[in-house]
Amino acid sequence: MTPIRFTTAGESHGKGLVAILEGLPAGLRLIADDINAELKRRMAGHGRGARMKIESDAVEFLSGVRAGETLGSPIAMLIWNKDWKNWAEIMAPEPDREGAGDRRRKVVRPRPGHADLVGSLKYDRRDARDILERASARETAARVACGAVCKCLLLEFGVEIGSHVVAIGGVEAPDYLVLPSPLNASADASPVRCLDQDASNQMVAAIDTAHQARDTLGGVAEVVARGVVLGIGSHVSWRRKLDARLAGALMSIPAIKGVEIGMGFETARRRGSQVHDEITRGGRSASGGFLRRTNNAGGLEGGMTTGEPLIARLAMKPISTLRRPLETINLETGEEAKAQSERSDVTAVPAMGVIAEAMVALVLADAFVEKFGGDSVVDLLGSYGSYLSRLRERWNNAESGE
Ligand SMILES: Cc1cc2nc3c(=O)[nH]c(=O)nc-3n(C[C@H](O)[C@H](O)[C@H](O)COP(=O)(O)O)c2cc1C
Repeated sequence: MTPIRFTTAGESHGKGLVAILEGLPAGLRLIADDINAELKRRMAGHGRGARMKIESDAVEFLSGVRAGETLGSPIAMLIWNKDWKNWAEIMAPEPDREGAGDRRRKVVRPRPGHADLVGSLKYDRRDARDILERASARETAARVACGAVCKCLLLEFGVEIGSHVVAIGGVEAPDYLVLPSPLNASADASPVRCLDQDASNQMVAAIDTAHQARDTLGGVAEVVARGVVLGIGSHVSWRRKLDARLAGALMSIPAIKGVEIGMGFETARRRGSQVHDEITRGGRSASGGFLRRTNNAGGLEGGMTTGEPLIARLAMKPISTLRRPLETINLETGEEAKAQSERSDVTAVPAMGVIAEAMVALVLADAFVEKFGGDSVVDLLGSYGSYLSRLRERWNNAESGE
């Protein structure tokens, strides 16, 4: 059983979102602002719809935190939906008054690319709103809240997680040989979270053009975790392989259609000599005193971290809700129709990067607690310290010929 688990609840236009995060050690300093800052980052980005202008997400702790520190008990968090007042009647849990008929804003013309059709058939619902309210990426706000807590834990180990956008709608940013540090300070300065000014301008223009054409765009974000010690995750069983855990968590983000670790798909086109990262001496003790000439493996070998930066790229498809709707079938009449249009984003690639950071933080924090155990942050750091000493000693012994 993985030590850190989380669950979320809540519909997009319901009263609010709830997140429960279990397995965090006691004694982690935590205040709501740590989380609110991340929630704010998730709402930003050129190309977001009207919804993001309405919401100003903030978390309320219901349990697990006292006097600014975690207790080791489950952390329950609540994020109210500010727009609830406009949806109270539509989303009310109470049954309809007899003969009141259908609720307003019923959805019967499913959008291609969304969960509307399959969900309605599978769950036997007559109103696809019963599906889309939960399939909506609004739920990812609760994940970002959980991820923000995990980021605080990982900071105790010197781990910094950031992301940046490398492509939107076919506009690609040039490759970065050395990423800025801290990464998010630079990325967040761009309206599309892209590090290259020229590409950033082109991406903004591409979003505006797509908006005018009543169309949508996808793209690629890269998430990077720096300062991760060697040996997180394990080769011994498929469940414990960190690359698999990361890929699964990142693929669970709505609209993600591909995840690459390091050089990813490009490795399949190259020879071994052009792919594998040669080993040299040097580097931090957190890397066991070794360095790599390259980091094509994206910081992972054998399902374990190498001590090099952990790098993953996520491909996001274009948003499924188009203001120029695609063809569909009306589920009430069986006739051809145009898909329903909901208030929607043109693109959400910049926000997706922030959600990806949260998912990486959740997976990494889980694997850290698995490796270093302990009920309190002090216990974990003690165990981490002795692991670093062991890595250091081994190298010192090798040097002295022992
Ligand atoms: C941050 C974010 C925002 C999104 N915003 C929208 C949106 O406004 N409209 C929409 O149709 N889909 C949006 N999506 C994508 C849908 O949630 C997603 O395509 C849908 O749930 C179907 O899941 P799938 O694409 O993974 O198959 C968004 C996704 C993310 C990650």
